[in-house]
Amino acid sequence: MFRSHTCGELRIGNVNQQTTLAGWVQTVRKFGSITFVDLRDRYGITQLLFGENLQAQLDANPLGREFVLQATGTVTERSNKNKNIPTGEVEITVTSFKILNKSEVPPFKIEDDTDGGDDLRMKYRFLDLRRNAVKKNLELRYAVGRSTRNYLHENNFMDIETPFLIKSTPEGARDFVVPSRMNPGQFYALPQSPQTFKQLLMVSGYDRYYQIVKCFRDEDLRADRQPEFTQIDCEMAFVEQEDILQMFESLVKRIFKDVKGIDYSEVVERMTWEEAMWQYGNDKPDIRFGMKLNNLKFPSHTFTTKQDISSIIAGEFAVFNEAETVIAIAVPNCSEYTRKQTDELVEWVKRPQIGMKGLAFIKCNTDGTFKSSIDKFYTEEQLKNIATTCNAVAGDLILILAGTEEKTRKATSDLRMEMGKRLGLRKDDDFKLLWVLDFPLFEYAEEDNRWVARHHPFTSPKPSDTDTMINNNPRIENAAEYLKHPYANIKANAYDMVLNGNEIGGGSIRIFQKELQQKMFEALGMDTEEQQHKFGFLLGAFEYGAPPHGGLAFGFDRLCAILGGSESIRDFIAFPKNNSGRDVMIDAPSTIDDKQFDELQIKLNLK
Ligand code: AMO
Repeated sequence: MFRSHTCGELRIGNVNQQTTLAGWVQTVRKFGSITFVDLRDRYGITQLLFGENLQAQLDANPLGREFVLQATGTVTERSNKNKNIPTGEVEITVTSFKILNKSEVPPFKIEDDTDGGDDLRMKYRFLDLRRNAVKKNLELRYAVGRSTRNYLHENNFMDIETPFLIKSTPEGARDFVVPSRMNPGQFYALPQSPQTFKQLLMVSGYDRYYQIVKCFRDEDLRADRQPEFTQIDCEMAFVEQEDILQMFESLVKRIFKDVKGIDYSEVVERMTWEEAMWQYGNDKPDIRFGMKLNNLKFPSHTFTTKQDISSIIAGEFAVFNEAETVIAIAVPNCSEYTRKQTDELVEWVKRPQIGMKGLAFIKCNTDGTFKSSIDKFYTEEQLKNIATTCNAVAGDLILILAGTEEKTRKATSDLRMEMGKRLGLRKDDDFKLLWVLDFPLFEYAEEDNRWVARHHPFTSPKPSDTDTMINNNPRIENAAEYLKHPYANIKANAYDMVLNGNEIGGGSIRIFQKELQQKMFEALGMDTEEQQHKFGFLLGAFEYGAPPHGGLAFGFDRLCAILGGSESIRDFIAFPKNNSGRDVMIDAPSTIDDKQFDELQIKLNLK
């Protein structure tokens, strides 16, 4: 027997038992004629005591950090107990030991608080993975996966694998491509998602499909994006949007319960895309806190149902007068900000990532007076009016941004999130789910003066908008006035699930009629030939009894990261890539041999 117990197992009740443990040496501490060793494995840490009788043997075979050790001895009650670890009441009085393998001195400390920087830890990820902090993340990931599989299995979903070597599936990113040796000059694309395959499975009659599956996207990376990432990918036939929302909010609630012990009994909020943009300036709002946007001025074509209240800022202030959009937020309990603090906020919005020219503020003093950076242009009465419009109360600090619509809305949203963070309103252990519904079906691509699918080309329009889509020519005659094109207002049968300001999943009810799918491809600028070349298989399948269907995919890594209280999905992936898409441990991507190029009949032509 290699070991009788794990290093996390022994307790006071095991005292006097014989045990054999195996693991890695975390620390070696010599005190006079005795030596203490902390032995670690996946399950925990146990203290070993090497008595006087073993010192000569230890001197001859000195132990170092990360040596692999097997030790046999008796479980003994510790005189000096360690309350911080579960095994802290006992130690093993070692009678014999064997060094199973030596180790180089590790390049960083294998402890919760490590001295290793990001790059070093990634290069030696196999050592980093020994750390408790990383292990906990992988355990959480495993628990989320298990809970998901249980729930979906109980609900009749079938896990079906789909291929990785495929033809491009457009999800808005670039494809990773793989050359085919047997078909020289031809390439596979790695799936950006199994989208078309899961739809084909619906046509085949597998009416509840899921897969926890790798997806590949060659896009710019951020903390919440990796070039290969994992989705919980699902599809259902014979469903309406409501069925999908119910099924999958229950999945997330189940994960909360199984993994975090949280009973999320409240109703999951729902908001249209337009309301999200209006109230939060963002299609994935963090609704754990208020501080909603007050739209003091906006272009008339953006929110056609909203009332124009710009008269309350009418006056002598050129910045507001000339701006397309003016938006304010009322930040609670900050009216006493000093000059230094407000100056710092001004600098914050001027940073290139935010890109605003300045920031105006109004302090709603607790004595009922107002102090503002725009005092020169507005009377006290006007400032009070603005404050009332913003539902500000005494003690609030109103922050106002002005500029072009898109930039100002985004900047105000970023500022709101920043203030939420600074005021401690975005707590890691507070979870708030939200469905964002009714996204626009199309987005305008300025470079090509054409429409692109906001979600993907298989998403259906709202039934009430189908005729608008079919009966209008998608061509945009006047680029400057694209917003007046009937397509600009078509809403999609699409939904995103948002958790604490992160898009953790998204999906849609699909187009399942060939003609509408063709119209969609046409709207995206594909002629019949291109449609046939790229999606002939799908259009063909739609000729053979495609059922109504829809689905969604969760970003598995993202969901795990948020549940684990982290912003970075890398911490929840065993072997992640860095921000340049490199795996620094195995040093990939890398060049390939000339022989491989020859076999593929490929010649490099680097520019
Ligand atoms: P979508 O493109 O919205 O939908 O992706 C679904 C979810 O996957 C996560 N995600 C990512 N996570 C990490 N790194 C990335 N690069 C990355 N890109 C996306 C997000 C996102 O919400 N086929 C459709 C789903 C459907 O319609 O059923 C799709 O892939 O959390």
